[in-house]
Amino acid sequence: MNVLVIGGGGREHALVWKLSKSKNTEKIYCCPGNGGIAKEAEIVNIDVNDFKSLSKFAKEKSIDLTVVGPEVPLVNGIVDYFYDEGLKIFGPSKKAALIEGSKVFAKEFLKKYNIPTGEFSVFDSSDKDCIKKAKELIQQNKKARVVKADGLAAGKGVTVCKNTAEAQWAIERIVLRKAFGNAGDKFLVEEKLKGEELSILVFIDGENIVPMLPAQDYKQIYENDKGPNTGGMGAYAPVPFLSKETSDEIFDKVLLPTLEGFKKEGIVYKGVLYAGLMIDKGVPKVLEFNCRFGDPETQPLLFLLKSDLTEIMEKTIDGKLKNVKLEWNDKFAACVVISADGYPGSYTKGMKVTGLEELNDLSHLKVFHAGTKLADDKIYTNGGRIFGVTSSGKTLREALDNAYMGVDRIYFEGKYLRRDIGFRAFKYE
Ligand code: AMP
Ligand code: GLY
Repeated sequence: MNVLVIGGGGREHALVWKLSKSKNTEKIYCCPGNGGIAKEAEIVNIDVNDFKSLSKFAKEKSIDLTVVGPEVPLVNGIVDYFYDEGLKIFGPSKKAALIEGSKVFAKEFLKKYNIPTGEFSVFDSSDKDCIKKAKELIQQNKKARVVKADGLAAGKGVTVCKNTAEAQWAIERIVLRKAFGNAGDKFLVEEKLKGEELSILVFIDGENIVPMLPAQDYKQIYENDKGPNTGGMGAYAPVPFLSKETSDEIFDKVLLPTLEGFKKEGIVYKGVLYAGLMIDKGVPKVLEFNCRFGDPETQPLLFLLKSDLTEIMEKTIDGKLKNVKLEWNDKFAACVVISADGYPGSYTKGMKVTGLEELNDLSHLKVFHAGTKLADDKIYTNGGRIFGVTSSGKTLREALDNAYMGVDRIYFEGKYLRRDIGFRAFKYE
């Protein structure tokens, strides 16, 4: 079959890599891809939100399966568009993707279906008293310290605040400075949750839930989880400290009621659902939902997945996940992200990368490219997150050591990374 992957980050490189290993895959295309993907798939240059041109391309190239990585085309309805054109596509519909597209919708959904989450209040930026009301809440309630723009803001719309001053500044940024444009038409003030963050990704076919291994992402830019949030500076799977009891509770109290809630809302959810959870003393609460694979969680997850990914995706689309169990390598995998200095703020592009060749033929290590481009057969930086060096090992420590060995071979001017990916797992040893 011919496969088209939409997106151009590390997650999409991992998808291209895994989908090309499938026995069914004949040819693989990626739009817009990146420097690493360009060596493994045919690059397509179409705007990922130009559904008309994408579907025309899919028909011309007899694409049998389109796989969507990022949230923006999903929230904009690419899946509905492709269905209407009679094309097979993996991902949730526009209505279903609202679970990520609107944080207000997601929180109200959680509350309606009694799914554990933090307390929250919703504010309307067009209400002339909204700043006053939100500030009053922050003054009165010591727990209300997380401010979120409602809509998609490229992962930047959430501010987890240390004090009232910071929370007030975050509110003013949304309402007065319109830092997130229309995404800030509504905003939330939430209870700040404590505990261990987990990423639980599952396949859902409308009726059945098939969980992937639990993963943990390191979101902040500096070591010891300090500094602003990024898209993710590293991740690993599985999570050794997650107990069977908590895992069962996540399934029974979060995943099942979420699926039931979708059904009651008349939403047929098909694709990957990613639950961002906070676990405090074994009790899970939902921080957020994403309607897609996580980045960088996908890199270690797909590195460990033994099952055929095109088969799972087709079963998800066809509603045939009942009794499907995923097969995994009995190992750990870790992904360490190398970014450009300055990320998640401003950074320079166009730096030449060296050291990649000697990592090419290792079976236990794969350098997934994110913000790179290929020119004259050389790789140059072209974004904030540049690589996700991913490796496996018999233990988490071994997987991390292998990944850092790879990281240390790669060089470009302004190379930045965190040296402490995985540290939260070692606290429990
Ligand atoms: P979100 O985009 O909603 O996942 O938020 C990004 C990150 O902010 C999450 O992965 C958490 O690390 C953090 N975060 C979001 N909401 C909360 C909360 N209510 N309490 C504590 N941390 C949070
Ligand atoms: N790793 C966080 C995300 O994909 O949103």
